Amino acid sequence: MADPVVLPYVPSTSIFKNDIFKGKVAFVTGGGSGICQTMTLNLMQHGCSAAIVGRKADRLQASADWLQKQAGNGTKCIATPADVRTPTDLNEAVRKTVEAFGRIDFVICGAAGNFLAPMDGLSENAFRTVIEIDLLGTYNTFKATIDELKKSHGAYIHISATLHYNGLPWQAAASAAKAGIDALNQSIAVEYGPFGVRSNVIAPGLIADTEGADRLTPKGAEDFMSMRIPLQRSGQKGDIGNMAIFLFSDAASYISGSRFIVDGANWHNGGFWLPYPDSQLDPKSIKDLISGSKL
Ligand code: COA
Repeated sequence: MADPVVLPYVPSTSIFKNDIFKGKVAFVTGGGSGICQTMTLNLMQHGCSAAIVGRKADRLQASADWLQKQAGNGTKCIATPADVRTPTDLNEAVRKTVEAFGRIDFVICGAAGNFLAPMDGLSENAFRTVIEIDLLGTYNTFKATIDELKKSHGAYIHISATLHYNGLPWQAAASAAKAGIDALNQSIAVEYGPFGVRSNVIAPGLIADTEGADRLTPKGAEDFMSMRIPLQRSGQKGDIGNMAIFLFSDAASYISGSRFIVDGANWHNGGFWLPYPDSQLDPKSIKDLISGSKL
């Protein structure tokens, strides 16, 4: 059987100019760790200043220090602690960001909470908690930042998912929340397009080295899961960063209200009808499994 082709991840610094975001400012909820931390780093590597938002002040400050050091180009990152469920916290975080940098151009709504549990195994409070962090947190972040984005003609990116495109077991609360986020994205795009504000969704698939991959996927299933992904690897956090850089850049100035799935085509690979990728790489190897085929 032929070996599958695996297209490598290529960092944004090899593709985009280093100063495309010079003078711009990003406000990133969930920027203290994981995908949103890497997106923040990637924006900073292209000249953007950043404020990251999270609940744990110490961890957030450590992350801001790490981001500044890692970017290594003089761009600044500040920690503005807030719980996205608390609008007054967010208003204060926005105030501190504008005080430090004078403006906000880009907002990433990325703060999220999730856990695997069957619907009737979740408490009402557990369901509400996920909706409050993910969906209401996105609305609260929008509400706290929209005035600044109207001034700067800025853009939103909301981190959603693909899990609600069909009925994924044990993900009811997050599915409902992410479906709501997709809807909010469209409303923001339509209501604030005339103010020069854009809004888009990124829906990551399986992204390696994240809390989500660690907590939400079965242990020991990494190789099997990667094989099911048509592009034959799990995503890197920088794959999402690359999409963010494109969407915040002027190259995307006519793109709003859209959803961008960054999952190696994973969610399109429906069902378990045929061994995959064997059925593609060596069709004859599976002929004994099927009747009626003229292979
Ligand atoms: N399974 C089922 N219910 C859970 C749960 C789990 N793994 N984790 C938390 N809950 C429930 C709690 O039991 C509680 O409900 P109860 O009051 O009826 O018992 C409710 O959710 C709220 O949990 P609590 O920890 O008090 O809320 P919080 O606001 O402090 O934190 C989270 C909520 C989601 C942030 C927290 O569970 C967490 O830290 N999760 C891991 C981080 C995460 O989700 N990262 C994103 C990965 S994609």
